[in-house]
Amino acid sequence: MNLPGLFISFEGIDGAGKSSHIETLANAFRAQGRTVVTTREPGGTPLAEKLREMLLNDSMDALTEALLVFAGRRDHLRTVIGPALAHGAVVLCDRFTDATFAYQGAGRGFSLETLSFLERIAQTGIAPEPDLMREPDLTLWFELDPAVAAQRLTQARSPDRFEAQDREFFARVAQGYAQRAAGAPERFARLDAAQERTLVWQQLQQVLVRKGWLQPLPAQAGAPS
Ligand code: TYD
Repeated sequence: MNLPGLFISFEGIDGAGKSSHIETLANAFRAQGRTVVTTREPGGTPLAEKLREMLLNDSMDALTEALLVFAGRRDHLRTVIGPALAHGAVVLCDRFTDATFAYQGAGRGFSLETLSFLERIAQTGIAPEPDLMREPDLTLWFELDPAVAAQRLTQARSPDRFEAQDREFFARVAQGYAQRAAGAPERFARLDAAQERTLVWQQLQQVLVRKGWLQPLPAQAGAPS
């Protein structure tokens, strides 16, 4: 059976808990016979991982930051995501372009118009559909009050350049995600990330079952341990 590829991104402010669900969803798809590629942004290719190091650690102006993010994204689309989708794989990506609009756009105050332009040129011209602007089929948006996320992060590892930003920055980023979601309601699925992990997983699973992309799992199966 030749199923079409599926491109699913995971988004939310730092501390929203999205990353912990990626492997669980990957296993659920694999258990149902799908090939799954898990990846992340910034990063996902040798070149883009080098850019990630710079983005997270070196100081730079907002345009440089946006250019590096989209350079890595194009390489990621051309060499990993595009080919995987062409082979019918499910691609689960920890952050994608919505993060750029939320962090560089809303968070840093960089021009949304320029970001839209960069999005268009970086995400088109990708085989096998060069005329199509590549974007996720579904974005799982882990929505969480920035104050709660900050609380969770203080218990985590040492912060990178973005995680070290203040509370107002994350309030703007959260707003940026809400705006992107309002602009593409058919692509975004909002998950209430304030709930405990098993309940967030249940919400996530329901979204995929409703779309017909995942068979209903037996109760608790695949629930994060
Ligand atoms: P993150 O997925 O949070 O990595 P980790 O879980 O290892 O900390 O992503 C790293 C940071 O990069 C995060 O703070 C958000 C930021 N980021 C941007 O600023 N712009 C982007 O386009 C992307 C994809 C991420």
